[in-house]
Amino acid sequence: MALKQEKDTAFVKFKGIEKRYGKVVAVKKMDLEIPEGSLVTLLGPSGCGKTTLLRMLAGLEEPTHGDIFVKGVRINATPIHKRNLGIIFQNYALFPHKTIFDNVAFGLKYRSASKAIMKEKVERALETVRLPGVGDRMPSQLSGGQQQRIALARAIVIEPDVLLMDEPLSALDENLREDMRREIDNLQQALGVTTIFVTHDQREALSMSDKVVVMKDGFIQQEGDPEEVYNNSANHFVADFLGHSNFINSIVKEKKGDYLSVTLEDNTTCLAVPAGKFDKGDKVEMVIRAQKINLGHRADHVPEQGMNSFFGKIKDRSYMGGEVSYFIELDNKLVLHAINFVKRSPYRRGDEVFMSVDPQNCRLLKI
Ligand SMILES: Nc1ncnc2c1ncn2[C@@H]1O[C@H](COP(=O)(O)OP(=O)(O)OP(=O)(O)O)[C@@H](O)[C@H]1O
Ligand SMILES: [Mg+2]
Repeated sequence: MALKQEKDTAFVKFKGIEKRYGKVVAVKKMDLEIPEGSLVTLLGPSGCGKTTLLRMLAGLEEPTHGDIFVKGVRINATPIHKRNLGIIFQNYALFPHKTIFDNVAFGLKYRSASKAIMKEKVERALETVRLPGVGDRMPSQLSGGQQQRIALARAIVIEPDVLLMDEPLSALDENLREDMRREIDNLQQALGVTTIFVTHDQREALSMSDKVVVMKDGFIQQEGDPEEVYNNSANHFVADFLGHSNFINSIVKEKKGDYLSVTLEDNTTCLAVPAGKFDKGDKVEMVIRAQKINLGHRADHVPEQGMNSFFGKIKDRSYMGGEVSYFIELDNKLVLHAINFVKRSPYRRGDEVFMSVDPQNCRLLKI
């Protein structure tokens, strides 16, 4: 088949891509562009189509509809080994009976490299993942984290156009995950290799990515840089999936400067930032991040101009190391979740408190 050239700058481009397994539509008419040299994460709950999207790019699944382009070239019909992709899957274990050297060199099998060049490339890849000199060992003689670094070396040794990683850290314990996360991030930046990283861990996605693509049921819900998707979540799902959000049903009352004033169920009013266009009487949902709620003892409350205030009683408190998480029952019985730094958290279960929230941190979403 003739290769079709597309005039655009996206390094990887999915255009109207769809994958059906019988009645299940795993990926639905998806358009996505990945800029050159960027690290993009696909983030979403189990079953939302992340792996399927990656497998189509890798050539392990055929799209039911749509096209995939790498560097402007349509690759739908390109065989796997000619796609020049570095792949690390969660269960893509090393070959247990091959030495580390042979494991890493495996990626070069289809490339007619001389023995000397192969040796040099493998050694360089092992140095890049900070495991020089382990070529003669067997995988069982390395720790889990080290084995995952070897998998990384195997993926980068071919100098791939795109690095694909499907939950590569999920088998590692929390501390090791954190280290590996940073290592992958640094490595990606040093090599400048375009990378697609799949995870359902929001912290992983927010901490590493140039761009986060939030997915649900085979659809993209929102894409943007980490701050954008976190601070300006486009809908309930994204706001709920990323971090801890409170959702309060309200009705739009009137415009107040840059804000809208809304009426809550108990007839109190709040100021909030509208995400989109709203009219008086619209039913909306006010989103407040748990970290944006400041607490104080109710007896100490002094009304603050322009701030939203709520009053209630601490129902539940859990200490989380650096922070304390509270569930507070408001006078109107609504329960809000607040997370404050330990230093500012002397409150106990049963304490009467006030909560103040800057209207800037109250966002209105359409229901
Ligand atoms: N080979 C297959 N045959 C039938 N259905 C499949 C197949 N592979 C995936 N699916 C279905 O497609 C949907 C998307 O699956 P996919 O593996 O892409 O999800 P995911 O986002 O990677 O989830 P997870 O976080 O659990 O890995 C799911 O409903 C899944 O059951
Ligand atoms: Mg998956």
